[in-house]
Amino acid sequence: MSLSFTVTERSDRLPDAEREAILADPGFGKRFTDHMVRATWTRDGGWHDAQVTAYGPFQLDPAAAVLHYAQEIFEGMKAYRHADGSVWTFRPEANAARWNRSAQRLALPGMEEADFIGALKALVEVDKAWVPDSTSGEASLYLRPFMFASEAFLGVRPAEEVTFSVIASPAGSYFTGGLKPVSLWISEHFSRAGKGGTGAAKCGGNYAASLAAQIEAAENGCDQSVFLDSLEQKYIEELGGMNVFLVHKDGRLVTPSLTGSILEGVTRSSILELAKDLDLEPQERKISLEEWRADAESGEITEAFACGTAAVVTPIGRLVSTQGEFRTGPEGEGGPVASKIRKALLDVQTGRAEDTRGWLT
Ligand code: COI
Repeated sequence: MSLSFTVTERSDRLPDAEREAILADPGFGKRFTDHMVRATWTRDGGWHDAQVTAYGPFQLDPAAAVLHYAQEIFEGMKAYRHADGSVWTFRPEANAARWNRSAQRLALPGMEEADFIGALKALVEVDKAWVPDSTSGEASLYLRPFMFASEAFLGVRPAEEVTFSVIASPAGSYFTGGLKPVSLWISEHFSRAGKGGTGAAKCGGNYAASLAAQIEAAENGCDQSVFLDSLEQKYIEELGGMNVFLVHKDGRLVTPSLTGSILEGVTRSSILELAKDLDLEPQERKISLEEWRADAESGEITEAFACGTAAVVTPIGRLVSTQGEFRTGPEGEGGPVASKIRKALLDVQTGRAEDTRGWLT
């Protein structure tokens, strides 16, 4: 049985002029639309009380399990407004599948793909005036589905009451510097995730675990940190919230293979597909930090970039550690391959190119 969403529109929406001012320069994750989705799951009753309602705070018992044991997952995706005014999301079924994998790992309830996508559609329908014009640039409406253990209980076991929600936030560039290459701090003391842990799940705890390294990165003048595998501290895994690709001079496009502690990004898998159209040879394999350093220094690696729903494709300029630093790509606006991939991806998402793979919903 699929969920139906009761819609209660608020009468005090943000005035058009104020909304348009936000859409003209949205930044990332700062402002939210007029409405949100809420639904509840109970062990006895399954999913119920699905609604689109005014955006506003949750009332949470101080004993809510999520506040103590971090039983929580989320997703990140975007809606784009095409030239004819229609609104599209990119591969939402891939996010729905990952949502259910994350839910299983965090012992949270699963959700039918139709309900997950239905929740996104219900919210975007009510707040469609908040979807920026995506016909030039990368503006979009970022959609953030999440669910958490809302049961008030301090015993350590899967919660018997869970709250599901979707909020939406107009988004421009994730990094404040726009498209300029980012610098990475190589985290030598901290791991993001370990073997058998939750690294492949999109759960808040992974991002919390990345923050101490992010502080180190900032203290060392870097934008992000890059994590190595937790066993040998030798192989590249991912950044705090983005996957990584390296471009070789012969056209190989290499990204770390999925080890169980790396998040399988929807942008990452889309780039592996798109690469074939761009005369690049995609490869997934282990990449050691030493290999990255040596090949960047010899010119074998010509570019590197980070990718994710929020970051799209962002060039990486240099890597810094306690041992020194090295460049891994051109300055300015980054290298030609990253910019070609970024364009190919954005063109499909924003309706500037034909969606030959049926990725848009
Ligand atoms: C995304 O790219 O959607 C992410 O979830 C990364 C970050 C903003 C947490």
